[in-house]
Formats: sequence, C-alpha cells, structure tokens
Amino acid sequence: MSYQSRDRRSGNREVAAPSRLDAPEAEASIGPAHEFPPLPGTGAAPWQRGRRPNAMKPLTVRRGTRADCTLLGALNHQLIQDEGHRNPMTPLELAKRMRLWIGRGGYTALLFEDGGKVVAYALYREGPDEIYLRHLFVVRDRRRQGVGRRMMQTLRDQIWPQGKRLTVEVLCQNTPGIAFWKAMGYQEYSLGLEIMPGTRL
Ligand SMILES: CC(C)(COP(=O)(O)OP(=O)(O)OC[C@H]1O[C@@H](n2cnc3c(N)ncnc32)[C@H](O)[C@@H]1OP(=O)(O)O)[C@@H](O)C(=O)NCCC(=O)NCCS
Repeated sequence: MSYQSRDRRSGNREVAAPSRLDAPEAEASIGPAHEFPPLPGTGAAPWQRGRRPNAMKPLTVRRGTRADCTLLGALNHQLIQDEGHRNPMTPLELAKRMRLWIGRGGYTALLFEDGGKVVAYALYREGPDEIYLRHLFVVRDRRRQGVGRRMMQTLRDQIWPQGKRLTVEVLCQNTPGIAFWKAMGYQEYSLGLEIMPGTRL
C-alpha cells in the first residue's frame, strides 16, 4: 500500500503508508527504499532550515527488522557513550533489548543508509496522541552534515501522521543534543530531578 506524500515540496513522491509502520510485528521494509527529498531554500520549517550544499547527498530509509538488531545494539551503545548516559548495558544486551522493543514493545526502528551503509537510525513509538522519539543517532563521521535534520524532515513530512504531539527526552549534559532538538523546533517542557544515593542533604 502506498500514499501520496503530504509535502508538495517533496514532489508528491509515493512513499510507504504509515499504517504499515504501525504494526510492530511487521518486518518488511517500508516499501521501496526512497531518497530524501531535496530541501527547500525558503519558507522552510525549523527542521528544514540552514543546509550546506554537501548535505544534499541522497539517503534511503528502511524499517529495521530482527536481522538488524546486532547492528542497532552496537549503534545504541555508541549513542549511550556519546550522550553520556549511565546505562551500563553491553552491545549484545542492547541488541536483545532492541529485539524486544521492535517486536512486542511497539517501537519502530528506521535505518538510514548511504550507498548501502547505515549512517543513522531512529527509534520511536507512536501512541494515540503522541510520537515519542526515543533514539536518534547519526554515526560519528557523518555529524554536522545535515543528516539528522533530513531524518527529522523525512519523519515529519513523509512517515509520521500529522497532528500528534512530538516528544523526546534529552540528558541535561548532552548540550549538542539539546542544540539539535531546539534547532528542530522542540521546546522545553519538563525537567527531571534526582538525588543520587549517598548524597548528603
Ligand atoms: C544529535 C545528532 C542526532 C545530530 O545529528 P546531525 O546530523 O549531526 O545534525 P545536523 O547536522 O542535521 O544539525 C542540524 C542542526 O542542529 C544543531 N546542531 C547539531 N549538532 C550540533 C552541535 N554539536 N552543537 C550545536 N548545534 C548542533 C545545529 O543548529 C544544526 O544546524 P547547522 O549545522 O546548520 O548549524 C547527532 O549529533 C548524534 O547522533 N549525536 C549522538 C546521539 C545523540 O545525542 N542523540 C540525541 C539524543 S537521543
């Protein structure tokens, strides 16, 4: 099944229907892998602004399956290191968790490829009113080239349904991550606080 892209700037190309992505057990790729649309020059939304010319290289996107979970576990491990998270899980444990998440857990993983090589992934869960983007990761040697921005553009314009609240959580110390989300239009809403065991009050 396919539908016409809502974004007329993308040239109304045919992309996979969101309903196919809704089924957590579905393991097919999201239709034929498609190229990112070119970014518009003017009048763009926050996640579409400010690209450099070398960011225009086409990428393709496909749905992650169980077969991708070893790689996704390794990338998740790098994400944990890069954002400074305390999670001590190994890549193998993360791969196992990823299998559960995209199996019965209701999450969708999307892999973004350049010339057949995975350069980024997104992991999200769609609820009735909200889309929670749990992971967004770009491999280290492809950062600051507009990949993350184009991922958000593809998610928002071609894959996610309109009209839902979009949420992410970011660690306070992850200043590049915070800068990225703000550049994508996300705004501060809540602040998590903690007292670590052994802290003197
Ligand atoms: C955060 C992340 C996904 C951004 O991806 P990216 O492809 O490097 O981002 P882009 O090149 O598309 O940047 C888009 C905009 O975000 C902002 N931005 C991105 N990285 C930034 C950084 N390190 N410092 C300041 N601003 C940054 C800028 O405004 C940038 O626009 P510009 O390049 O025109 O100035 C990537 O750095 C990453 O994978 N980091 C590790 C994992 C992580 O922290 N993920 C987010 C938390 S789950």
